[in-house]
Amino acid sequence: MNQENGSKTATPVMKTATFDLFSEYIQEVIGIKMGHNKQTMLQARLMKRLRILGLKTYEEYYSYLFSEEGQRSEMPLFVHQVTTNKTDFFREPAHYEQLVKQVLPVLIREKKYSFQRPLRVWSSACSTGEEPYTLAMVLADFAETHQLPDFTILATDISPEVLQHVAQGVYDEARISPVPFPMRKKYMLRAKDPEKRLVRIVPELRAKVRPQWINLKDYPYNIQERMDIIFCRNVIIYFSHDTQVKVMLQLCNHLEPDGYLFLGHSETLNNFNLPLKQVAATVYRKQ
Ligand SMILES: C[S@@+](CC[C@H](N)C(=O)[O-])C[C@H]1O[C@@H](n2cnc3c(N)ncnc32)[C@H](O)[C@@H]1O
Repeated sequence: MNQENGSKTATPVMKTATFDLFSEYIQEVIGIKMGHNKQTMLQARLMKRLRILGLKTYEEYYSYLFSEEGQRSEMPLFVHQVTTNKTDFFREPAHYEQLVKQVLPVLIREKKYSFQRPLRVWSSACSTGEEPYTLAMVLADFAETHQLPDFTILATDISPEVLQHVAQGVYDEARISPVPFPMRKKYMLRAKDPEKRLVRIVPELRAKVRPQWINLKDYPYNIQERMDIIFCRNVIIYFSHDTQVKVMLQLCNHLEPDGYLFLGHSETLNNFNLPLKQVAATVYRKQ
């Protein structure tokens, strides 16, 4: 529908040549590989932006995106449309079990990090924050019964929009069902207005999670410290093999010796030739 006068207008169709321009740019800048089988998906996702901007064709949108104004104001929204942000609290729960039962006890026993400084954890494609806040809840619980030093969680993503969610730490009640009840009680606050059906992560845990914009494809990363634990889950699956290898190498550079790297359930590092030893299905340790 034409929003101005209510008359019907044809739905714009993305030409293959235009899709190729978008997909080349997406692969070069974000790292995400988009074959022609993704043309309909990209068209549907960008359609929303065309409608909001009142543009009639994808070519007009492409020109706008690369204008001075588009680069400044549209690019973050473009990135958000192009990326897949699916996430959950306690997604792939076996990892949190491994963290508590295997990884943290080993790190503590070996005293691989000094008790003078906090344990450093990095959720490197954190989406709207469910992953870093799950980590925060699990670590806070573990610290109640073990000799864990303080901890910090760096939460990074390429989409500025998801990082705003992380900073706010506010979630729909419907999303918290995977969180065990005692943790909800300790680490989540209900909105004063019950009709809103929202919860907010408690300030003490929000203070431990630091949101920062990082494009995993752009190195060197603007991170000074080395991490004890890196979660890089369900993101490299979208990258080409070449980009996967380069990103993994960079992550290894940011890992402490004997630090741990967690990948998503369908991501593997077979034949990557990295200084990592596999210790569980998708868990690696730096050698
Ligand atoms: C499917 S979500 C995974 C979220 C979380 N790690 C999990 O497993 O539930 C993938 C996230 O990767 C981010 N992403 C995609 N390309 C990226 C890049 N080049 N650098 C950093 N983040 C990226 C997306 O914005 C999205 O939030």
